[in-house]
Order: sequence, then C-alpha cells, then structure tokens
Amino acid sequence: MSERERVRELVRGARRIVVFSGAGMSAESGVPTFRDAQTGLWAKFRPEELATEPAFRANPSMVWDWYVSRREAVARVAPNAGHLAIADFQRRHPGRLTVATQNVDGLHQRAGSPGVLALHGNLADDKWLDVPCERCDLAVEAGRPPRCAHCGNLLRPAVVWFGEALPARVLAEAESAARACDLMLVVGTSGAVYPAAGLARMARGQVVVVNPQASDLDDAADVVLRDTAARSLPYLLED
Ligand code: OAD
Repeated sequence: MSERERVRELVRGARRIVVFSGAGMSAESGVPTFRDAQTGLWAKFRPEELATEPAFRANPSMVWDWYVSRREAVARVAPNAGHLAIADFQRRHPGRLTVATQNVDGLHQRAGSPGVLALHGNLADDKWLDVPCERCDLAVEAGRPPRCAHCGNLLRPAVVWFGEALPARVLAEAESAARACDLMLVVGTSGAVYPAAGLARMARGQVVVVNPQASDLDDAADVVLRDTAARSLPYLLED
C-alpha cells in the first residue's frame, strides 16, 4: 500500500479528524507563504518587522497599507481544490472534521467550511488598537488607518501579531479538538510558530504531515506525505 493509500485508509477509519493548516494550504490559490520571499513594495521588509504592535504604533500608515495590499491580494484569489475537498468532506460528514488554521486569508471559510478555528484571526476584520472610548464606533473617520474622530484611537487589523496572545477561546477549542481526534492532517505549515504548532504535538491520534518540503513537525508525524495541499486532499478525503 502506498503512503497516500495508507492515509486514505486512516481518514476512512477516523471518527474525529482535525485539519491543522498553514500558509502552504493557500499557496496554490496564489497567496504567498510567510517564509517565501515577499514581493514588490514589501520585499525589503520581513513580516516580523511589520506584523507587530510596536511597528504599527511607529508607522501606522505603512503597516495599514501593507494589510490593505494583502486584503486586496486575497480578494483576487479563490479557494483551491484542497480547501474545497475539506469543505465537501464536512458537508458529507457533518461534525466529523474540524479545521484549525493559522491562516488569516478566509479561504477555508469561503470554501464553505463551517466553524473554522482561526487561530491567528481574520485579515478581513478590524478592531480598535486601544480600549475604545464611548464614541469610537460612532465616529470612525476614514484614513490610513481609519481613526476615532473623538479620541484619535486607531483601527488595526484583527489578526494576531508577533508577541500577542492567540484568542483564548479559539485556542482552547483547537486544543480540545486535537486531544480528542483520531487523526490530524497537518497541511502546509512550517511548524515554526508556537503556540499554534503545539497542536500537532497534542494530537491524540495519528498525525499526517502534508508538505512538499521538510517541516519542523515531521518528527511528530506518523506519516509524511511529500505532496501539495491541492493535489493530495481531494484524493485523501474522497469517499
Ligand atoms: P510558513 O510560510 O512558515 O510555511 C509554509 C509551509 O507551507 C512550508 O513548510 C512550505 O513547505 C509549505 N508549502 C508550500 N507550498 C505548499 C503547498 N502547495 N501545499 C502544502 N504545503 C505547502 O507558514 P505557516 O507555517 O503558516 O503567524 O506560518 C505560521 C505562522 O507564522 C503564520 O500564521 C504567521 C506567520 O508569521 C502570524 O501572523 C501570527
């Protein structure tokens, strides 16, 4: 039996499956991964230098513009065959598969996956940088970034920046799904960023890594498939 067939058998036998995804999940949709070189205007910055609260406070327009460019890039692309295969499986098998993703691009949600656990937030959402005043939500003034006309508070993207905590409820749900699963598919993540990467080490059941390159989670895997998300998932999740 090939490794692919072995994983397909694991899927068929698993009552509770977790897909734990990272940027490689969206690579075949045309979203660059984090550890790929940045392109264009942003090529001279590392995400770690832009995706922090101190960076935003020091240069809010530049960081805001970077997020606007990422929002625009994500709006131009579509879920790929991997996202769609996961959502199809969830439709055919309600309650059997949970998606916990590090991605902020919303592509699992756009593919139709219900209840996605967005560990690092959502690129499409904003939140207030500082505790809002009583007028913040009523007095939003357009700008880069938009601000409260009353107190000057700034809107920021509702994503988890370096040095920030993950949303506690989402992380707790992902951890309990990991501890309860029979099978975890770890798709398209370098496994370099904690606490998210720790989910793969908490999985109760079998762990399968799907990644065309070596990752930091290969040692936690029972099976490693050197393949891409869009090529492998439709086969693995077929009935
Ligand atoms: P990375 O950019 O670190 O890793 C992407 C992984 O995807 C690499 O291991 C690639 O080999 C793999 N890959 C590339 N193409 C693929 C494909 N077509 N199919 C499957 N795998 C493929 O991205 P993440 O692991 O998601 O955090 O990064 C983790 C976190 O670090 C991100 O959520 C973000 C980042 O900085 C925050 O913003 C808090």
